[in-house]
Amino acid sequence: MTDGKILVTGATGQLGTRIVQFLQAKLSPAQVVASGRNVVKAPQRVTFRVVDYDHPATIEAALEGVSRVVLVSGNEVGRRVQQHKAVIDAAAAAGVQLLAYTSILKADASPLLLAAEHRGTEEVLRAGDLPFIVLRNGWYSENFTNTASLAIQSGVVLSAARDGRFSTAARDDYAEAAAALILRDDHQPGQVYELAGSTSFSKREYAALLAEKSGGEVQVHDLTETQYTVALTKTGLPEGFARILADSDAHAADGWLFDDSRTLENVIGRPTTPLDQSLDAALDVR
Ligand SMILES: NC(=O)c1ccc[n+]([C@@H]2O[C@H](COP(=O)([O-])OP(=O)(O)OC[C@H]3O[C@@H](n4cnc5c(N)ncnc54)[C@H](OP(=O)(O)O)[C@@H]3O)[C@@H](O)[C@H]2O)c1
Repeated sequence: MTDGKILVTGATGQLGTRIVQFLQAKLSPAQVVASGRNVVKAPQRVTFRVVDYDHPATIEAALEGVSRVVLVSGNEVGRRVQQHKAVIDAAAAAGVQLLAYTSILKADASPLLLAAEHRGTEEVLRAGDLPFIVLRNGWYSENFTNTASLAIQSGVVLSAARDGRFSTAARDDYAEAAAALILRDDHQPGQVYELAGSTSFSKREYAALLAEKSGGEVQVHDLTETQYTVALTKTGLPEGFARILADSDAHAADGWLFDDSRTLENVIGRPTTPLDQSLDAALDVR
């Protein structure tokens, strides 16, 4: 356990907010500091310090009295290694004792476009002196549940993943793990945690689950990666984002979003939230 404060970055976002809340449940109010760019989106009843990864002075100021940091990866694709490096450099200069970085599953080898910046950030960490751990988060179940009602309405699940399996967990499961791990003292230097769901599913199984829940027909439309990119773009997604999602789906076909280590389950002391339960919550099934 730490004597100093724990700073959570990205705490105006969905994952960071929940990490803060899990920490608040375990620590005194003075020990938890939330940070982000926009105070309006700050979690409730917690000290908030403005941090903008593009403005190192804000990071230095926010690290006052801080001994541990949860660096939640940013969402500005293409700019993130430099942004994360700014936090890592400032934390090292401030004498932070442990930094946990939220990376992506199998970041060292993953061919996903999304993995490159996480790999780059991990390399920055390994090249420096700051004590760190890596939380390699798998896919959020919310990546599926957020579009579940649309899939039910259209009766179609688009896929470039073929029979690839997704070991998803709820965002909350990853947040709980981050809060648990930043408080532990038994890490090996630079320890990597491959965090993913206790169970997995293919898109075909996902479509069958949607059909069962809705009582209607839901079919998988198998597409090539390019066809999937075009289809996602037609739903209104920006092309760059559509390309990233289609790339991830296509690589899921080769197992890059699958993991059966049950490390996340071991960290949080229970199986991860089943997809079925996350779907019920998203679809408001009572
Ligand atoms: N595993 C997955 O399936 C999955 C899915 C989506 C994302 N992710 C990754 O996990 C991270 C957390 O997920 P999430 O759902 O919480 O995403 P989110 O809700 O988009 O939150 C991202 C957070 O990063 C902050 N941020 C972005 N740029 C910043 C900057 N320049 N300076 C300071 N803060 C900055 C945002 O602050 P503002 O509120 O100021 O924008 C926000 O607090 C994402 O950023 C992404 O790297 C993983």
